[in-house]
Amino acid sequence: MQTIQLLNMGSHSSQKNQFMPNPIKSVRGTRDLLPPETETWNVVESAVRALFRLYNFQEIRTPILEDLQLFQRSVGEETDIVSKEMFAWEDRARAQSEKGQWLALRPENTAGVVRAYIEHKMWERPGLQRVYYIGPQFRRERPQRGRYRQFYQIGAEVIGPSSAGSESPSVDAEVLEMLASLLDKLGIQGWTLELNSVGCAGDRLRYNEALQKALKDVVHKMCADCQRRAVTNPLRVLDCKVPEDQPIIEKLPRMSDYLDEPCRAHFAEVQKILTAVGVPFKLNNRLVRGLDYYTRTAFEFTHGALGAQNAVLGGGRYDGLSESLGGPQAPGIGFAIGEDRLVMTLQESSGTAARPADVYIAPLGAGMNLAAAQLARELRRQGVIVTLGDETFKLKKSLETASKTSARFALIVGENEVNSGQFALKNLGTGEQVSVAREGIAAKVK
Ligand code: HAM
Repeated sequence: MQTIQLLNMGSHSSQKNQFMPNPIKSVRGTRDLLPPETETWNVVESAVRALFRLYNFQEIRTPILEDLQLFQRSVGEETDIVSKEMFAWEDRARAQSEKGQWLALRPENTAGVVRAYIEHKMWERPGLQRVYYIGPQFRRERPQRGRYRQFYQIGAEVIGPSSAGSESPSVDAEVLEMLASLLDKLGIQGWTLELNSVGCAGDRLRYNEALQKALKDVVHKMCADCQRRAVTNPLRVLDCKVPEDQPIIEKLPRMSDYLDEPCRAHFAEVQKILTAVGVPFKLNNRLVRGLDYYTRTAFEFTHGALGAQNAVLGGGRYDGLSESLGGPQAPGIGFAIGEDRLVMTLQESSGTAARPADVYIAPLGAGMNLAAAQLARELRRQGVIVTLGDETFKLKKSLETASKTSARFALIVGENEVNSGQFALKNLGTGEQVSVAREGIAAKVK
């Protein structure tokens, strides 16, 4: 019944064919990841999982749906992410026993990790918690190249009590060194690590006041966004990309002049270790990041190939975040890589990572699907990537299909071959054809 209704709905607007409903498209800002591109995503994810293990990080999976308040209290109500870009809605109670609440699709994963840290009393576990995540995030931004409404992040967080060493600048340096190694391992060249310290809460209060004071005299010459930010969140003025505003911003007070002694020493030590381990960085005192929870070290890795959306990843410290979510003191630091952008950079430098099938099995003649299925099973058990053809295909069609789908070899399975145990194996690259015994096929194609 429902199907019929749906079909009719479609046919109203479709003049051409009464019974053809309009095709449904993916939602704006979301996209399908199709093969062979998905192979590059898998290569990236396998490489990062292996690297995370080397640095002793373990996976955490938190829900995509969270209480809206979580992001209001962590990322911050005045940020673009929370004030403009959330997918949030009121989820009304369905039964008396339930409470209604405002839900949100997560725009990032640090808040969820810290919520989980508090909810599961993870500070009772020994040492520092070193966790990583890979998954979708949602922001209702204006879509463009490298910017989507559903995008993917690969992130990690190190969090724990100060007594476990969570505040140490060596943790910051270790995380940054891991990221440099990761980009190098993936073969991404030409990245820049931009580094800043946004100080602690007290420093930022003093800096904010100084900024507000300096902005008073000049803000009327700036763009509309800056005029609004000057009132709601003056730090955000430093993010402005409008060319005419740049000379004004360059003359505003600098965060580095407002760091207290412990923050200054902490930042100096991070830089010292990075230099000692050979990770190059560029100081950028305008780097303030778009989320409110940051303290001290803040960073981004940028890449020229990405254009306007040039941050491959971003992160920093968030020493007061746990407390602001009702948890114990638990300083932390982390980052999130934009996986869409990482894959884009990789594809630009080395194309797709897709691996074609090793063998296309071509069953020749009626009844041969059975023998082909047996052979496919044997070969796959030996680690050979097999595409299975169909006995209704003529040999010519089988060979064409094998070539079109980029298989490396075609294996012909006809009655004679099965009876004799000798199979015709054609190298589709060179055109050379040889006869191989059943037991020798796997070795020959590998
Ligand atoms: P973020 O800078 O908001 O930080 O996002 C991290 C990365 O996600 C960005 O550098 C970018 O590559 C990618 N990204 C962000 N928005 C989009 C989008 N609309 N489309 C495609 N990619 C996007 C965070 O999310 C923090 N939670 C990072 C962090 C972890 N800080 C501490 N721990």
